[in-house]
Amino acid sequence: MYVCICNALKDRELADAANDARNVAEVFRRCGRRPQCGKCLPDVAQIIEDRRALDNPAPLAAE
Ligand code: FES
Repeated sequence: MYVCICNALKDRELADAANDARNVAEVFRRCGRRPQCGKCLPDVAQIIEDRRALDNPAPLAAE
């Protein structure tokens, strides 16, 4: 699915670039692109958060 229409970037490509990325700018840089309209930036930020959550799962609550 396309997330960034301006740069024709799909969710999968962004998720790969988001691995250990510090911010949205770094994700775009890794993809060799620059944000243009900015409408996708919240979605890219969410992809970074999702990657972090996968890499650092929250501990299960104690019973
Ligand atoms: S949709 Fe990503 S910069 Fe426009």
